[in-house]
This record gives sequence, C-alpha cells and structure tokens, in this order.
Amino acid sequence: MNELTRTLILIKPDGYSRGLTGTILQRIEAKGYTLKALSVVNASEEQLASHYAEHVNKPFYPGVRDYMMSGPIVAVIVEGYRVIEGMRSIMGATDPTTAAPGSIRGDLACASSDDTIRNLIHGSDSLESATREIAIWFPELA
Ligand code: TYD
Ligand code: MG
Repeated sequence: MNELTRTLILIKPDGYSRGLTGTILQRIEAKGYTLKALSVVNASEEQLASHYAEHVNKPFYPGVRDYMMSGPIVAVIVEGYRVIEGMRSIMGATDPTTAAPGSIRGDLACASSDDTIRNLIHGSDSLESATREIAIWFPELA
C-alpha cells in the first residue's frame, strides 16, 4: 500500500521571473498531484543555509545562494502517492543541459555564461528531507 506523502518544491528565481510559475504548477497538477500550500517569498540567507545544509561548504554554494536570493521564489507543498520520487522524475536531472526532454528542467532550462546551475525547480530527495524542508519554508505547518 502507498501512503499519501508530501514534498517540498521551490520554483527558483529564474522560474518566477520568467513567468513559468503557472507552467510548472500545471505540470505538477497534470501529473496528478495536489497543491497543499503555496507561498511567494524572498529567501533569507539563513533559510538557504539550512535548506542546502548538505551543500553549504561546497565551492559552488556561494553561487547557489546568490542565485536563490536574486528574486522571489515560490515555495509549494505538493501531496500525492510516491510524490517525492514522482516529482524528482518530472523535474529531471540537476544539469538542465542534459536533463531529459519532457522533464521540467530538460524542456525549460539551459546553461548560462557562468557555472551556477539555474534549473528552475527544487524537489526534496527523501522523506527526511521533505519533513525538514517543509519546516524551513512553512514553519507554521510543521
Ligand atoms: P543537488 O542537491 O546536487 O541537485 P538537485 O537540485 O537536483 O537535488 O544540488 C542542489 C543545487 O545546487 C542544484 O539544483 C544546482 C546547484 N548546483 C550547482 O550550482 N553546481 C553543482 O555543481 C551542483 C552539484 C549543484
Ligand atoms: Mg538535492
């Protein structure tokens, strides 16, 4: 039996500023998942350091932080059966240049002039990550 689970999605600043929020949400709903909470926010440095705890000491982190603070993001709680793996599947691989066509990253993002990966969307990678990340972006629901 599958249990209803929740994942934390972020539509990153490139997605929001390019007007792709609706397109991305449409793909999530078309897949069969349910939007349970949605918030347009400006990420703080503290939220990002907590969200990206596994990456905060890596050389690419300052670029990721600056990108994630470059404009508003949309935080979304998405619910469904096997939604964590399902969202990772429809998002596509981290590198948008080689992410599979048909995926959100593969269809809608590409490389830019610098090394920071701007790939439109974040999705939790495990149940533990989802619980932790929902508490960061929706503390009132945790
Ligand atoms: P990661 O958790 O590896 O990817 P994903 O978002 O697919 O779970 O990395 C988090 C984000 O950090 C990723 O979406 C883009 C950025 N990033 C870089 O800018 N450069 C890198 O070399 C890596 C690995 C990630
Ligand atoms: Mg990750």
